[in-house]
Amino acid sequence: MRETEILKRDTRRDMMVCAIFFARRLRENTRHRGGTMQKVRLNDLDHGVQLCCMRARDVRSRAHEPYSKFKVGCAVRGGDGNIHIGVNVENSAYPMTRCAEGNAISGMVGRGVVNIDYLVIALKGGGSPCGGCRQIIWEFSHGNKDLAIYCFDAEDKSGNPWVNKTSIGELLPYAFEL
Ligand code: THU
Repeated sequence: MRETEILKRDTRRDMMVCAIFFARRLRENTRHRGGTMQKVRLNDLDHGVQLCCMRARDVRSRAHEPYSKFKVGCAVRGGDGNIHIGVNVENSAYPMTRCAEGNAISGMVGRGVVNIDYLVIALKGGGSPCGGCRQIIWEFSHGNKDLAIYCFDAEDKSGNPWVNKTSIGELLPYAFEL
């Protein structure tokens, strides 16, 4: 075999080895973080999740947001099978503002439930929970990195909005723990 052909063959082999290595690492990371964000149509979700989406969207109208004018509604499916809802509550002393997720979870805990099955947030644009809320969600995940978090655009007019499905492991891969 000519020297150039040997070189080409070796390069091809090295590229294959690299591709396999990176594919494996991606799969490992994905599993470690509990999956990657998926976009799903509301109507294609489980009925329980759809119900939580409606509850989060409905309760959102009760948000107290005179300063930001940004309404957030949250519905948590608790380990008791019930839906626990919350909205953001702002305060003229700005740092005293409480997020919708934390309020929904506090209500759940006050009812004696300390496990989250999954959580939905409804907000304009369909963004994801803030860093502090991710830590609060983690507290009641009991180590379940796959705990599902659904976020969707509460102002979508299509009747069948896209819902971003992610997990607490993906949103907060290195949670604080004592
Ligand atoms: N907010 C939430 O309720 N949840 C979040 O995850 C992010 C932000 C609220 C807090 C504040 O009332 C408004 O959205 C704007 O930051």
